[in-house]
This record gives sequence, structure tokens and C-alpha cells, in this order.
Amino acid sequence: MTIRYPYARPGLSEADIQAVANSLTGQFLTQGPQLEAFESELCTIFGARHAVVCNSGTAALHLVYMALDLGPERGLLTSPVTFLATANAARMCQAPVAFSDVDASTGNMTPETLADALERASIPVAAVTAVHLGGRACDMAGLRKAANEHGLALIEDASHAPLADYHDGEGGHFSIGSCAHSDAAIFSFHAIKHLAMGEGGAVLTNDDRIAARCRLLLNHGMNRNAAEWRFAPEPDAPWYYEMSELGWNYRACEMQCALGLSQLGALKKSIEKRRGIAGIYDRLLAGFNLLSPPPPDPGQVWHLYPVSIDFEAAGRTRGEVMRALADDGVGTQVHYIPLHHQPYYRRAEAGPLPGAEQYYRHTLSIPMYPGLGEADLEEIAGALKRSLSGG
Ligand SMILES: Cc1ncc(COP(=O)(O)O)c(C=O)c1O
Repeated sequence: MTIRYPYARPGLSEADIQAVANSLTGQFLTQGPQLEAFESELCTIFGARHAVVCNSGTAALHLVYMALDLGPERGLLTSPVTFLATANAARMCQAPVAFSDVDASTGNMTPETLADALERASIPVAAVTAVHLGGRACDMAGLRKAANEHGLALIEDASHAPLADYHDGEGGHFSIGSCAHSDAAIFSFHAIKHLAMGEGGAVLTNDDRIAARCRLLLNHGMNRNAAEWRFAPEPDAPWYYEMSELGWNYRACEMQCALGLSQLGALKKSIEKRRGIAGIYDRLLAGFNLLSPPPPDPGQVWHLYPVSIDFEAAGRTRGEVMRALADDGVGTQVHYIPLHHQPYYRRAEAGPLPGAEQYYRHTLSIPMYPGLGEADLEEIAGALKRSLSGG
């Protein structure tokens, strides 16, 4: 059975395709004017001082964790309801990882679950990564306060939530990517994210030191800043660079940046489209007692549309429902298998995480991407109801 409606789908316009083609005719294939323009436009649109573009969201996480010196004595506390990369990148620094519980209805870490996890943590925690699951912003002001009480760095895994809105509870209004309450925010610009580079990512930060370290480490630690050289044979030696610590090749090429830059121009429109789709789903699914639409949040940017399903009451397993939907051409996915369920992380210090367990037990992501029209949504909602009522 072909899947007519995958749970997510990249949306490329003619302008995007042209932008990539044009990038191939320039002097550079990597690290050229497209990269520069993309970084500058990210700063303008997100309102952060620095944007460091790299070749995946995982690379962005790894760069920030390295910039914050995570390591065996400096661990990470994060949400278990996320993609593997959020925690794996800390393990790449040999840092221990512990998990905080989340709110059972949104899957997001809250100031309360964070404070509780910090009290219980048996690893040396140096940094916290909050994940804005599915495009819903966490309570960043509250998380900042809780992190500050323990002197911790606060990072946002904002892969799902570019420009999501949130309030600080004191009349302040902010958007994700500005880093108003965090040390840095990372984004994935993977093919099915709001903004696609094919593969790609970025670190946004207002911290000059974090930005400089990320830039250095994404290119093998090659330092071309003459003012910082210690062993240069001549001052300002034109061929010279110095490497003082191990870095990586996390560079993004011009084709990826041209696509990202072009997609960035359409980001706000795509968010509006996603908000419209979520509103239609909310209406189509309201009142059906076996499932609940996601809790309302006008600031959501809807990378995912995760419904909460009472599989027990429906008398069907999640696998049965997913297969029935696939037979109707509707793709679905589960975001996410909590990380502490993975064999690799089973040993990670994890007290009871009832919010994460409850969220996982019920969640199912149904198709969400700007190309969906009202008739498509009616078809998907109809298939979903049939799959649960056995019809
Ligand atoms: C929440 C989250 N964090 C990190 C990543 C990693 O990004 P990438 O696949 O670009 O390495 C993803 C990508 O799926 C993600 O969804």
C-alpha cells in the first residue's frame, strides 16, 4: 500500500530549486557567500547575535556541548522524550546523561520536573537541554530560573520549534531562536523540518564565546585568527593556522545553505499554513472520545501534530492502528520512544518518569506538512476514526 500522506514531507518550491541550481554556478561549493548570507539572515529573523551553520542538528548539539566543556565530570540533564541525538551528542563528549520527567500532556520538560530531576540527579550535571517537542515552546523563563538556581547552562533543542512564541509570565513575549532565556539554541534543518537544507543545522546564541568555540570546532579546530596564535613563524603569516584542540568537519556546503536561505524566506508563511492545518484537525477530531487533539497553544509552530489515543479503550494496539492507517494510505509515527527505553540508555540514571511513560503510551503523530489541503485532512481524520472504531 502506498502512503499517500506521510507523517511529514519536505516542501520545496521552484524558487528553492532555482536557488540551489544558482549556487552551483558560483566560485564556491563550500563555505562561500550562501553560508554567509544564511547565517546573517538567521540572526535577523530569529533575533540572536550569532548563527553558526553546520551540517546537522546532531553536529550543532555536539558543538554546543563541546563549547560548554561537557565531559566525564560535566554531565547533561535532558528530556527523555526526544530524538536520540539530544543525548547522544553529550555521550560523544563522554559526558554522563540523566533524564528529567516531562508534562504528560505536552511531553515538554517543565520548571517543576526539572527542579525535581536536579534534586534527584546522581551525576554531576553541568547543563540542561530543553526540547520544544513537536513545535511547542517550553516555559523557558521558568526553566532558566530553575537552571540558575543550580548554576547550570541551559540549551534549547529547538529542532521542532523555529519561531515558536512563548510568554515569561510577566508580560514579556519571546520567540524561540532568540535565546532570550538560554545560552544557545540548536536547530536541525533536516529534510522534513520546517526549514530544510537536506541535511543541516545551526547553533544560535547571544554568547560570543560559545559562538567562537562552535566556529572553531566545526572546522578541525583550525584557528586562523592571528591574534590568538602562539607558535606562528611570522606575524600574520598568510598560509598559517593553528590547531590547539581537536575539532571536526561539520561544515555545510553552499548547496545546503542556498536551500536553507531560500526556505528561510518562506518560514513564516509555512508556520501560518501549519497553524491553519492544526486548527482544522482540532475541529475535525473534537468530540471523538477515543482520542484528544494536542492541548491548545497559540504559539505552537506544529512540526508535528501528535494526538493522544486511548488504545486500551479502543481495544486496539498502537501497531494495529498504525497498520490500519497505512492500509488507508496514512503514514504515522511515534515521537518518541523515550530514551531510557533504549538499551544504551537503560543504565542512565532515571528515577520514575511517569509523565514520559504516560505521554509515550498514548502519542501518535499524524500527517503534518504545509502541502495538506482541507480535503486531505478530512480524509486523514476519517481514516483515523475508522482505525480506532474498527470500521
Ligand atoms: C529534537 C531533535 N533533536 C535533534 C535532531 C538531530 O538533527 P539531525 O537529524 O539534523 O542531526 C533531530 C532530528 O531529527 C530532532 O528531531
